[in-house]
Amino acid sequence: MPEADKEGKKYYVDIPQKGEMFFLKGSNELDWGMKNRLARIFNPKDGHTVMLAIDHGYFQGPTTGLERVDVTILPLVSYCDTLMCTRGVLRSIVPPSMTKPVVIRASGGPSILKELSDEELAMDMEDCTRLGVCAAALQVFIGGEFESRSVINMTKLVNAGLRNGIPTMAVTAVGKEMVRDAQYFRLATRICAELGASYVKTYYVDEGFETVTSSCPVPIVIAGGKKLPEMDALTMAYRAISEGAAGVDMGRNIFQSDSPVGMMKAINAIVHGNEKPEKAHQIYEAEKAAAGRRR
Ligand code: R5P
Repeated sequence: MPEADKEGKKYYVDIPQKGEMFFLKGSNELDWGMKNRLARIFNPKDGHTVMLAIDHGYFQGPTTGLERVDVTILPLVSYCDTLMCTRGVLRSIVPPSMTKPVVIRASGGPSILKELSDEELAMDMEDCTRLGVCAAALQVFIGGEFESRSVINMTKLVNAGLRNGIPTMAVTAVGKEMVRDAQYFRLATRICAELGASYVKTYYVDEGFETVTSSCPVPIVIAGGKKLPEMDALTMAYRAISEGAAGVDMGRNIFQSDSPVGMMKAINAIVHGNEKPEKAHQIYEAEKAAAGRRR
């Protein structure tokens, strides 16, 4: 028989039980599992995240810099807060001993050779939970040819995610012919949030980005977009964070750089260290030079 507990007296009757507001914008009313997953994606200390996006192959195959994910990307994972990838790459290349949270690409269908808005949900919630992911992501094509279907796909993922405690990251996709301005991104991000996305990935715009973040009731992270000179990419990240973004979900400006580790360190300095782009660029240059000496 186990020993009977001798009842203690530490009831702290004069101390009210603490409750806390969840640290992420618009997320306080979510269930515990959703919040816990979001708290693994976004650092609770500053509410920010550095996501490394490597899901490009789901529509454009072996993208430059992603030809060999095992060789070029796995060494970068320790520098990110969150890895965003497809389930194919996760299962075939990413070691299960990796403990970083994963945001999984859950939409797909058309290749770069076809109409990209013609996407469907390409993964079900059962597999998301089996893989232990912290969020599921899909493209939403506001203004695109298959706009309604992509929006309804999102609501289906949101519904399934709510049943299973898995947040949805909506990605505002921009077609070739679509205008990229604050007005468009206010529309697109707000629709995603109104219809249930837990957070939204969108693009930075030079004019009025703060109106995009302020009118979206859930956190926004920015995609990096096409490869830019390193200083320009760092300046974009700095401005996005200064104007209300909760982080970056960056791909090509990391893995197509001549120093991907340097860019990871520089982006971290901006997103979590509040460093200015000039200082972050020095961090990138220093890492590049050090890697050159090691060779
Ligand atoms: C693109 O469709 C993918 O969702 C990428 O994850 C996203 O565009 C971010 O990557 P990048 O910084 O290269 O734009």
